[in-house]
This record gives sequence, C-alpha cells and structure tokens, in this order.
Amino acid sequence: MLPIIAIDGISGAGKSSTAKRVAAELGFCHIDTGAMYRTLTWAALQKGLRPDQTAELGKLAQSLRFEFNEENRIRVNGEELDPHIRSPEVSAQVSTYCQPIEVRQAIVEQQRKLGHSRPTLLEGRDIGTVVFPDARWKFYMTANPETRAKRRVLELKAAGIEASEDEILQNLLERDEKDTNRANSPLRKADGAVEIDTSGLTMDEQVSMISRLVRRDLAV
Ligand code: DC
Repeated sequence: MLPIIAIDGISGAGKSSTAKRVAAELGFCHIDTGAMYRTLTWAALQKGLRPDQTAELGKLAQSLRFEFNEENRIRVNGEELDPHIRSPEVSAQVSTYCQPIEVRQAIVEQQRKLGHSRPTLLEGRDIGTVVFPDARWKFYMTANPETRAKRRVLELKAAGIEASEDEILQNLLERDEKDTNRANSPLRKADGAVEIDTSGLTMDEQVSMISRLVRRDLAV
C-alpha cells in the first residue's frame, strides 16, 4: 500500500484545516485537490469558457502545472492564485466545471504524479475511491450543514472575503448535491475509510484522531 493519507468528505467539513495540521505534524506533503479544480474553474471563467466546452476545458486542465510549495500553498504555472480561487463566483461554479471526464483525467494524472513523489496527504472528494484506492489510510469527514456554514464564513473572513451565512449554506448544499450525484467520480465514502463527524469536535480532536492512527501504523 502507498504511504498516502486520503481525506475525502463533503464541502466545509473541515478537511483543509485538519489536513494542513496533520500533514505538518507527520511531515507529509499536503495537496488540496479542491484548489486544483478551483484553479481550472477560475482560468475557464477568465477565458470565457462554458461548462459544455469539455474538450477546451480538458486542454486547459492539461496546461495547468500545479506545484505545492514548502508551506503547501498552491502555485499554478509559477503563480499564486489564492485568494481568487476562493471567491464566491468560483465557489458557485466549481462543482459544474470539475465534472467533465476530460478535466478529471488531466487533473487526476497530476495528483497521482505528485502523490507518488513522496509521502503525501491528499484531500478532496474522490481520493480514496478513484485517485488512490490503494492509499494506506483513508478518512471520510462530515459535519452538519449549520456548523459547516459557520466555519466557512470565518475562514473567508480571515482571507478578507465577506459572505453571509445563508449564502454560504446555500452554496454548500448545492455543492453537496452536485458532488454526490454526478456521473464521474461522485463523492462516496471509500471502502475501509474511517468516518469522522466533526460537528462536535474541536480542531485539536480532529487532528489527533487522524495523526494517532497514522502514527500507530508507522510505529509498527
Ligand atoms: O474542497 P473544495 O470545497 O475547495 O472543492 C471545490 C470543488 O471541487 C468541490 O465542490 C468539488 C470539486 N472537487 C472534486 O470534484 N474532486 C476533488 N477531489 C476535490 C474537489
């Protein structure tokens, strides 16, 4: 089995913040795969591409060179695109633009390359089911909608983006629906994944649930 930690789950369940800390504690590289689909969406909107232009979107996805620097911040073709890729406009469109098979193939290929190069934690929707079904550790994170919306508003605020809780809640529910019901790589709990409901958990608790399990296996 590959030394890969796969963390999947619904939008806003706390995957990114948890993943960042777990990866730092364990010395794993951290790949936020949602940021890759957000970048594709941002670039497509800049170019005025529609979601049904799937061949063009596939080519665009192939032209994006993703790197994650020492702080695990995403760079694309040498540029930092945060916080543009977190804007409400991109959030509203990403679940549509990420669907074409041409887009997914191009992005999954890069995820596999990045993951094979060193011990890596990848977080997303299809890591344990499609990208790395052989991952040694798999987790599936959930939380109730209100908790998720509250957390997302705070995260965005910290990044300098104002948004209302209602608007965020609506966006999260729409994305859950699209991510779960799409034809290609729908969001599912992978076989053997450990489910973590983070609604009543603190960040420290979430982090230690994952780190403890991985450390226990690495000590053997
Ligand atoms: O993790 P996030 O909320 O930033 O992800 C944004 C969108 O990208 C999400 O709504 C669905 C898509 N996504 C995906 O299809 N597959 C992944 N592995 C990660 C994200």
